[in-house]
Amino acid sequence: MSDSDLTPPPADSLDSTFEISLRPPLFEEFTGQDKTVERLKVMVDAAKVRGDTLQHILLSGPPGLGKTTLAYIIGNAMGSEVRTTSGPMIEKAGDLAGLLTNIERGGVLFIDEIHRLQPAIEEYLYPAMEDFKLDIVIDQGPSARTVRLNLAPFTLIGATTRSGMISDPLRSRFGMNCRLDYYSSEHLASIISRSAGLLDTPMETGADLEIAMRARGTPRIANNLLRWVRDYALVRASGTITPKVADEALTMLDIDADGFDEMDKRILEAMISLFDGGPVGVSSLAVAIGEEAGTIEEVHEPYLIMQGYIKRTPQGRVAMPKAFRKIGLEPPASSVSPQSDLFGK
Ligand SMILES: Nc1ncnc2c1ncn2[C@@H]1O[C@H](COP(=O)(O)OP(=O)(O)OP(=O)(O)O)[C@@H](O)[C@H]1O
Ligand SMILES: [Mg+2]
Repeated sequence: MSDSDLTPPPADSLDSTFEISLRPPLFEEFTGQDKTVERLKVMVDAAKVRGDTLQHILLSGPPGLGKTTLAYIIGNAMGSEVRTTSGPMIEKAGDLAGLLTNIERGGVLFIDEIHRLQPAIEEYLYPAMEDFKLDIVIDQGPSARTVRLNLAPFTLIGATTRSGMISDPLRSRFGMNCRLDYYSSEHLASIISRSAGLLDTPMETGADLEIAMRARGTPRIANNLLRWVRDYALVRASGTITPKVADEALTMLDIDADGFDEMDKRILEAMISLFDGGPVGVSSLAVAIGEEAGTIEEVHEPYLIMQGYIKRTPQGRVAMPKAFRKIGLEPPASSVSPQSDLFGK
């Protein structure tokens, strides 16, 4: 299995059926992200008590941490219908008008990948978010005129894997900005147990943690690994997932005890053997390992940074001592010294 098996599947793939079936529908079934969940619950409860529309919410964080899941949970908790679209799908102001005029009072519009909205569309969104009004230009040339549409009060939930790419004016129009973090192994283990239950797959104690530790802090990866281990258990064992079966199955995928897959290893190897440990720009790194710069930045790097394998500096990415050890090398003296990034290499 290659790295792509662990990255988000396209929305229309068979995998998405599997994802939907495991998606928790209620806050109570959503594990982890305790602070975020508490804040969202307060907002939802307050809006319900006041009989008011929920404020706009921005959810950000790396892929597979539960942004889409939370958007649906929020809609569910408000008893509102959730309409879904994504930044690149809204091409014209008319597309946006079509979406917004169809939302009923208190309804939720979920815009995934909101950082990919065109700037012109973003401008239309500002008054819609603030005053529930949309000024649309009809016709071109001398007969062009602006028509103001009044919208029913609605809640916009935006999701992004690149919160740094959200413009300040857009960000400031969200009443709540929630950043999702990677999950602890314990939280992932309980997500895996819940999923195994939903999939009717018998699992022994400890097997959930065995899988969780290799899931890079990400529920989507945890569920994908579970699915693989379940298949392996079915054809290579008795069908029950024991810690030993889980270990064998994951070893067969070349996923090591730190949750590293092929691509993570390639990134570290390239940084160290081709670029002397850095600093290296993400585009050079991308060319060297044959992966898109965006995928490295969004999917692989956050975890490697969080775990202290690499570091971002203004000059580029730098391999940390842990990265050298990971690929079986002694870190050079300069990379261990705290001064190294001040004076470069
Ligand atoms: N806290 C959680 N508890 C249980 N399951 C979760 C949780 N978070 C995510 N999942 C599971 O992980 C899968 C992926 O989550 P989701 O699609 O919400 O991620 P995302 O942040 O929207 O990712 P992307 O950025 O790729 O759109 C879901 O199908 C769900 O089953
Ligand atoms: Mg999503």
